[in-house]
Amino acid sequence: MSTTQKFTEKEINPLGSLDEWEDAVLERYPDPEAIATSKSTEAYRNYEAPERDTVREFYRLNHTYQTYDFVQEKRADYLRFNKKEMPIWEAFDFLNQLVDDSDPDTDLDQFQHLLQTAEAIRRDGHPDWMVLVGLMHDMGKTLCLFGEPQWAVVGDTFPVGCAYSDKIVYPEFFKNNPDFNNPEYQTPTGIYKKGCGLRNVHMSWGHDEYVYQMMKDSLPESGLYMLRYHSFYSWHREGDYEQLLDDHDREMLKWVKLFNPYDLYSKNPVPPDWKELRPYYEDLVAKYLPKTLKF
Ligand SMILES: [Fe+2]
Ligand SMILES: [Fe+2]
Repeated sequence: MSTTQKFTEKEINPLGSLDEWEDAVLERYPDPEAIATSKSTEAYRNYEAPERDTVREFYRLNHTYQTYDFVQEKRADYLRFNKKEMPIWEAFDFLNQLVDDSDPDTDLDQFQHLLQTAEAIRRDGHPDWMVLVGLMHDMGKTLCLFGEPQWAVVGDTFPVGCAYSDKIVYPEFFKNNPDFNNPEYQTPTGIYKKGCGLRNVHMSWGHDEYVYQMMKDSLPESGLYMLRYHSFYSWHREGDYEQLLDDHDREMLKWVKLFNPYDLYSKNPVPPDWKELRPYYEDLVAKYLPKTLKF
């Protein structure tokens, strides 16, 4: 029996949409300087609103069920990339099947978020491969379309097989995780060696690792770090997990930090003009990516 089958519909989809998690992250790390231009306040959610109970329930499920064994099971399944193969532009249509019915006024589809992230990066004159990172960074959310629970697709990611950082939101829910009672997993380094480097550490399963594995032959190392660790907030925002890092991670951290504000703060109610942008992005995708993407 696959892990997902034992969950009820409510446990698979505790959130109205994946955006509820992203809104909660934005409440935690509000925009200091507004990268996006022409933001109109009334078109935005009210970020002062108390965090929804659904987000709390989402984290309860995430912290309870993301065990070391769960991660191994998902890696063994998804990293075979034998589920689907499609041309890249079809992949965006596929991703866009993830629609948010709960709040049609304020939410743009997944592709618009990717395009806005990419455009904000391009506007600031960063290298073209980083623009491509912006365009692709959430492609891993297609995990939802293969039936994965929301808490195994999004949410702050964290290392499994070692003690949990108390900088992760709702740390109290980790008491429900079976790994919490395994002493081998509950020292600061757990099953890993001190300073082993994040490449040797298994993260909780989600869209970051999945898209990294999808893109790992196509982008420079700094871009791959942006993909792989963009939801690892307890590292790139809170500075935790020093015991697992090596010098390469410390060097790459600046790239992960550079990317994060574009992801969080580029949302704008006005959709980009795709007609006008299309030729640029077709060339960009053709420059770096193979003709088809495997899922
Ligand atoms: Fe993401
Ligand atoms: Fe994103």
